[in-house]
Amino acid sequence: MKIKGLTALVTGANRGLGRTFVQALRDAGCTKIYAAARTIEGAAGDVVVEPVQLDITKIEQVSTAATRCHDVNILINNAGVARFVPALGAPTMDDARLEIETNYLGTLAMCRAFAPVLKRNGGGALVNMLSVVSFFNAPTQGSYCASKAAEWSLTKAVRFELRAQGTLVIGVYAGYIDTDMTAGLMAPKSSPADIAARVLEGIASGTEDILADERSHAVFSELRKDDRAFDANMQKIWDSRQDSH
Ligand SMILES: NC(=O)c1ccc[n+]([C@@H]2O[C@H](COP(=O)([O-])OP(=O)(O)OC[C@H]3O[C@@H](n4cnc5c(N)ncnc54)[C@H](OP(=O)(O)O)[C@@H]3O)[C@@H](O)[C@H]2O)c1
Repeated sequence: MKIKGLTALVTGANRGLGRTFVQALRDAGCTKIYAAARTIEGAAGDVVVEPVQLDITKIEQVSTAATRCHDVNILINNAGVARFVPALGAPTMDDARLEIETNYLGTLAMCRAFAPVLKRNGGGALVNMLSVVSFFNAPTQGSYCASKAAEWSLTKAVRFELRAQGTLVIGVYAGYIDTDMTAGLMAPKSSPADIAARVLEGIASGTEDILADERSHAVFSELRKDDRAFDANMQKIWDSRQDSH
């Protein structure tokens, strides 16, 4: 798919990877980009970038956005939250609920609202920003991983349903990316610009599953080789953390 001249919508466009997607789409020649965000006060718009107020967990806002942004060819479901808590060790279920309502149900609402828009505009592309933890569970962030696994499964469901209308449905997998989300973590991180570049290449080449960094390639091949060994190692890491507390 040629990106130049198309219209895109990015959720969570006010910061982090979302903001980088907007810049990358502009550089690739999109003629209009809806920069959707929960807060757009003070957001600068211009002839190409149009700020759109959108909380993906608010169904009426999603529906209003789909009516207003009726010319979208590329939808990037980027908005997401990570609370970095264990599934059982978290004091309440509030974090798990927020993650599932945002990462899974919010993305589902966007897919449902924009599938007819993409169809009317010739098919286009729908991109879901997933994670390496869509593939496995890291117990220190157990509920986030579960929400990203649900979003991965959703991506496959949407792909089945939208193939007939010619929509390219893309899942993007990455390890840590250098954004606010990972600000407190000491770990190797990819740059948002590198991830956005891989995604735009994937849209252009029609790639359905984009392993966007070294970590995602490594995890994917380790799991294919021996997923039990992978989980056994995860158990060791978890147990050693418990012993040291
Ligand atoms: N950073 C990583 O290591 C990493 C790795 C793999 C995948 N990902 C995924 O990549 C995506 C972007 O993450 P990021 O690193 O850029 O995170 P980030 O810096 O924390 O930014 C998250 C973005 O999502 C928006 N958002 C959260 N809840 C929303 C809602 N209900 N409606 C609309 N927007 C909402 C935030 O808006 P506000 O400013 O209003 O909060 C913000 O714009 C997420 O889906 C994340 O799961 C991240």
